[in-house]
Amino acid sequence: MKKSITLLCILAMVSTLAACGGKPADKDNSNNDRGFTTVVEGKLIMATNATFPPYEYIEGGEVTGIDAEIASAIADKLGLELQIDDMGFEFITGTIASGKADIGLAGMTVTPDRQEEVSFTVSYATGVQVIIVTEDSPIVSLDDLFAEGANHVIGVQRNTTGDLYTTDDIEKKGFGTIDRYSKGAEAVQALKTGKVDCVVIDNEPAKAFVQEVEGLKILETEYVTEDYAIAMSKDNAELYEAVNGALKDLIDDGTIGKIIAKYITAE
Ligand code: ARG
Repeated sequence: MKKSITLLCILAMVSTLAACGGKPADKDNSNNDRGFTTVVEGKLIMATNATFPPYEYIEGGEVTGIDAEIASAIADKLGLELQIDDMGFEFITGTIASGKADIGLAGMTVTPDRQEEVSFTVSYATGVQVIIVTEDSPIVSLDDLFAEGANHVIGVQRNTTGDLYTTDDIEKKGFGTIDRYSKGAEAVQALKTGKVDCVVIDNEPAKAFVQEVEGLKILETEYVTEDYAIAMSKDNAELYEAVNGALKDLIDDGTIGKIIAKYITAE
């Protein structure tokens, strides 16, 4: 009796292991001659959140911008067809980690927490967290947000580094509260209508949003400088090498610089 129960347990364990373990959904692309496998044979699937000009935004119904062009150049180099999946920013690393997309490009900052979940390629761009305020705002420098007695409402895009930093530096220290929006542009609208006192967001989308909405400005003091890189699975070393290698080549031969210069004019 005892024996058969043990046996049953073992059988149950083995079948759950088989169900949960291994690669997500058998891909049947292990026998190609590329030396790496992708989620779907012949394709490079990019996860992004197209609310972040000039890195990714929708134009004419299509995801366009710096990251889309970089991913397209990488796909070309690897002989793959690029597919772009647009989703909430907070879902990108999980989508990569669970094997539903090959690469995450979203002006995504390399952070220690994200590095627990995904691998990052070499960095291809730099971002700076800046503060957007109304033209007549009493907030004139970054320090005002952390000043004795400060009590501001800060708008951010949910789960971005702007959210993470202000949560730690402002909310947790009692200098104010954070209003989290699913898009940066919504946080900027909230600033315009007086629901928040400032917005913390990356410098390039900040410039794009301030150009669109009248009466706003970006403070000159910078909050945090960060590195953007491509998020990839920790479990696909061959693909990681291929994509990272392609990206390095595209940096070295000036392609990435040209793509960025198309969208961002140097000051
Ligand atoms: N750089 C910031 C971060 O990694 C913001 C990125 C937001 N990107 C986007 N496509 N919405 O958290």
